[in-house]
Amino acid sequence: MAQIELEHIERVFRLGDSEVHALRDVSLRIEAGEYLAVMGPSGSGKSTLLNLLGLLDRPNAGHYRLEGRDVTTLSADEQAGCAARASASCSRASTSCRASPRPRTSPCR
Ligand SMILES: Nc1ncnc2c1ncn2[C@@H]1O[C@H](COP(=O)(O)OP(=O)(O)OP(=O)(O)O)[C@@H](O)[C@H]1O
Ligand SMILES: [Mg+2]
Repeated sequence: MAQIELEHIERVFRLGDSEVHALRDVSLRIEAGEYLAVMGPSGSGKSTLLNLLGLLDRPNAGHYRLEGRDVTTLSADEQAGCAARASASCSRASTSCRASPRPRTSPCR
C-alpha cells in the first residue's frame, strides 16, 4: 500500500464563464520514506497539487488515498482529522513531498 496515491485527479477553477484546468488526469504513488520533487513552469499546477495533498483543497474528480484511506470523499471535519498527517507528509514551502514512515496507528479518524 502506497502512503499517498492519486488516481485521475482533476482540478478545474471556474472564473465566470471561463475554466482553468489546473490539474488534468494526475495519477501518482508515493511510498513511505520516498522523496518527490514537483517541478514545472509557473502555472503548471504545482501549488494546486500540493494544496490537494495537504487537504487544503478538494479535486473536482479523481481519488486521493492517504495510507490506504480514500480522503477525497471525507467531510470537512473528517478531513481535518487527516490534515496533520497529510501536512506532515508534504512540505509546501520546499515544493517537495516526503512520505514519512507509516505509524502503527493512523491518526486519521
Ligand atoms: N484559486 C484559483 N482560482 C483560479 N485559478 C487558479 C487558482 N489557483 C490556481 N489557479 C490557476 O491554476 C493554474 C495552476 O496554478 P498553480 O498556482 O498551481 O501553478 P504553479 O505551478 O504553482 O505556479 P508557480 O510556479 O507560479 O507558483 C494557473 O493557471 C493558475 O492561474
Ligand atoms: Mg506555486
